Formats: sequence, structure tokens, C-alpha cells
Amino acid sequence: MSILFSPLKLRSVTLKNRITMSPMCQYSAQDGQVTDWHRLHYPTRAVGGVGLIMVEATAVEPRGVISPDDLGIWSDEHLAGLQELTQRIKAAGAVPGIQTAHAGRKSGTSSPWTGGKPLHRWTPVAPSPLAFQEGWAVPEELNIQGLDEVRAAFQKAAARSLQAGFEVLEIHMAHGYLLHSFLSPLTNRRTDSYGGSRENRMRFPLEVVQAVREVWPAELPLLVRVSASDWVGGGWEISDTVAFAGELHQRGVDLLDCSSGGAVPGVKIPLGPGYQVLFAAQVKLSTGLSTGAVGLITEPLQAEAILQANQADLILLGRALLSEPYWPYRAGKALAAKAWPVQYERAF
Ligand SMILES: Cc1cc2nc3c(=O)[nH]c(=O)nc-3n(C[C@H](O)[C@H](O)[C@H](O)COP(=O)(O)O)c2cc1C
Repeated sequence: MSILFSPLKLRSVTLKNRITMSPMCQYSAQDGQVTDWHRLHYPTRAVGGVGLIMVEATAVEPRGVISPDDLGIWSDEHLAGLQELTQRIKAAGAVPGIQTAHAGRKSGTSSPWTGGKPLHRWTPVAPSPLAFQEGWAVPEELNIQGLDEVRAAFQKAAARSLQAGFEVLEIHMAHGYLLHSFLSPLTNRRTDSYGGSRENRMRFPLEVVQAVREVWPAELPLLVRVSASDWVGGGWEISDTVAFAGELHQRGVDLLDCSSGGAVPGVKIPLGPGYQVLFAAQVKLSTGLSTGAVGLITEPLQAEAILQANQADLILLGRALLSEPYWPYRAGKALAAKAWPVQYERAF
């Protein structure tokens, strides 16, 4: 019996299998609103047999978008479109999840296919006034009032996610975006209680988790995505992630989605099949917290082996699901499991 096709219960939510669509920005929203692209793109993967669909990084504040084409959840006006999206994902047989996000100092670029360059239309915010790289905006350092606003925005976004019908919530704390930039000593140079020691750097991200947990129901799972390592000396590293995971666990986080990198440019990442799996394995082993493995997992037997080795509880697929939306059908054939819906039975 394959583990990839066995259910996973997280609080009251049962995922029918361990295949998760990794959050992937589509840069196809208008004023943060869901468009027909999202209405087609996400349900297609649900029809394809994915158990959990994580909707892309969705901005909690207008100044927290990566690009002006990002999905948003900063206003009640975003609710109707998101509601329609969760209904469609459920109708197609998957659990709808959402990643709430704030891009911090990386906010304000054009979409990748129009260059991905800084637009300089607004001033981004960050723990410290350090530009991501030359030519990028110098962000404004968040003061106490600003921190209150961002924390409240994540909380409000969680409440709206619930209203919209999402059953899994993931807070984005990876890839150099705002909450990661508080954690990493490379990007957090504060001298107040939110900077300096690791305990201080973890403070604001943990406050956000607490604020979210207050409104995100106890019966629904809360996930966090981290960059488990900055891959650079003097940066955030896996031992920090293990310590952070313990704190998250205590505050009601159910699973750590282990990505990496993105804090600073020009870092050499040893890309290869499953290159981030060891992070998920180490967090799971050291803390007992459930984990998600992501990054160049492309083959069914590879995914199954990660689960069999108890290195992770969930497998997140990104690009593999862009190129092959029905990937789970192929995995089902490889692992002697039934991944297709009854409506398609006659094809198999
Ligand atoms: C088009 C695209 C958009 C992405 N957007 C997000 C995002 O919104 N949030 C996030 O945490 N990661 C994002 N990522 C990273 C993926 O979720 C995933 O972690 C990464 O692609 C590695 O997994 P893969 O090798 O299976 O693609 C994105 C990746 C791609 C290719």
C-alpha cells in the first residue's frame, strides 16, 4: 500500500492523499481579484487528483504584493472570487488551501514575463532599511505601529480565508519575503526587541502565528512555509529552523513546509532532485512536527520513497504540476493506486 495515496488527517481535515500542489503565483489577478485564469488553473489540478491545492501567495496588504498582478485578501471585496474558487476546488475533489503572504522588501516588481523588475510605484516595508539589491527600493523600516498593522493584516486575512471556504491556511515565511526577512540575520539589523538574538528575530513571525491562530479555528490546520536555510554563511540555517519549528509547534502550527533560499541574491543553491528533502527530514526527526517536502520532486517513486523513509508527511509539487496537471494519474499507475475520479473510470 503506497503512502503517497494514503490519507492524512490534519486536525479535522482529511486529505485523500499526500500529493499537494505547491503555492505558485500566477500573476494573473486584477486588483488582487480572482480571474478566469484562477478559476480554470486550480480546479484542473484538483480534477487531476491532487489531495490539497495550495492557492498561490495571496497578499494581506496592498504594499505586500510581489507584483500588481498578485492575488489579494486585504479587502472584503476579494471574498466573492475566493469563495467561488474554493467551491470549484472542492467540487473537483480536493481540499482548498491558501498561502497568505507579505512580500516585504521584495514587493513591487513586474510579473516575470514582463521583466520581474522593480517598478518603484510604492515604498516597501521591511525589518531594516536594506534594499534587496542595487536598483531595488530601499524599504521603510517598520515601526511598532507598522508591526501592529501587518500583524492585524495577517489576522484579518486568516478570518477572510475562513469566510472564503479555505480549510488549510499556510503563512508564507520563506523566500526573502517579509516574515523570513525578520528571521534572517542577513536582512534583520534591528536593535529593538525584534532584532539581534534569534529569539528576538523570531518574535514578530511568532506573534503573527499567534494572532492568526486566534481566529483560525482550532479544528482547521495551520501550516507555515519557511526557508529552512539561506544557504550562506552568517545567514539563517537549519539549526535555526529546528528551533523555530519547536516554537511554531507550541503555538498550534501543524506542519512545516520546508523550502529554502531567497533572503539575499547571488547565492549558490545546490539544485538537484529532492534537494530540500533533508530539511523536512531533520525538522521531523528533531521536533516531531509534521513536515512537507518540496523542490525538484518529480517522480512518483521518488515521492513515495521520501514518505517511506519518514522524511516528510506531505509531498508538494510545483513545476511538475504545471507541466503535467494530471501527474497523480501517472503516480497512481506507478504505485498501484486509483487516482482518477469515477467519472473517468472508463479511461483506465
Ligand atoms: C511559477 C512559480 C510561482 C511560485 N510562486 C510561489 C508562491 O506563491 N509561494 C511560494 O511559497 N512558492 C512559490 N513558488 C515556489 C514553489 O512553490 C516551489 O517551492 C518551487 O517551485 C520548488 O518546487 P518544484 O521543484 O516542485 O517546482 C513558485 C514557483 C513557481 C515555478
